Amino acid sequence: MKYPATIKAYAKLNLTLDVLGRRADGFHELCTIMQKIELFDELSADFGCNGVSVRADTELPPNSVAYRAAYEYCRRTGAGGASITIRTHIPQMAGLGGSSADGAGVLQLMQQHYGAMDEAELFALAAELGSDVPFLLGGQLALCRGRGEIMQPLPPREFYYVIVKPAQGISTRELFAALKPPYAPPRSNAALDAILRGDNAALCANVSNALAPAAEERLGEIAAIKRRLLAAGALAAEMSGSGSACFGIFPNMAKAQAAKAAFADMPWCHICKSVHGMV
Ligand code: C5P
Repeated sequence: MKYPATIKAYAKLNLTLDVLGRRADGFHELCTIMQKIELFDELSADFGCNGVSVRADTELPPNSVAYRAAYEYCRRTGAGGASITIRTHIPQMAGLGGSSADGAGVLQLMQQHYGAMDEAELFALAAELGSDVPFLLGGQLALCRGRGEIMQPLPPREFYYVIVKPAQGISTRELFAALKPPYAPPRSNAALDAILRGDNAALCANVSNALAPAAEERLGEIAAIKRRLLAAGALAAEMSGSGSACFGIFPNMAKAQAAKAAFADMPWCHICKSVHGMV
């Protein structure tokens, strides 16, 4: 085997998330700036078997993204099987892309071992598996459009994040289904300009999430966590994706650590930084 069959499958957070409208296929047209973060599941693969199996240290849904990724890769290419093991650290129903990260990680493992798809086929499969899978397969900081599969890579921003997740999660499907226009005004282009200018203050001023009002209606704790992150010194605070995790942006580790101390009462609180460069 050419590569070690163990990888880190990184999570993401959404620095901005605009909902532009509902599409004919039932999905919503998005414009979102996604950042890959140093929070990851660990995936390993054994290729000495036929068929596909996925085991994890937490319960996976019957047709998990990870399973479908391995199954579809084999079905489409005729590649042999894989036995995948997942050690999870990314919380579920958090808006951090946990199940999509696992799907992207499986595709990466399969491709490293079998090399049976070209890049276009691999990204097409990623997009079918879930809206965040293409970014998690190939991005670090990017403006993503469509369902998320049209990516414009952006220059890196070095930030530290304090991420706080309440006990209750949110279903992406249910939140989108409950979403009604008018949607919040788009902020991604202003944030994009700020990133391209290297203007962190303007970027932080445009951190936003059009799904947050609907999520806060369901789970009031989200607004409270955002307020607490700002009170703890965050340059900006917002919900990630469809929630329920929220993040605060900090300029350095010391400030992030000081802020984390204010969340000892929360079930899950994690500090991490942006992923960039070779990983
Ligand atoms: O693509 P993903 O599996 O993450 O999406 C979960 C559900 O969220 C979709 O089935 C769809 O109902 C909703 N969704 C949407 N518009 C998007 C992404 C997701 O309506 N851009």
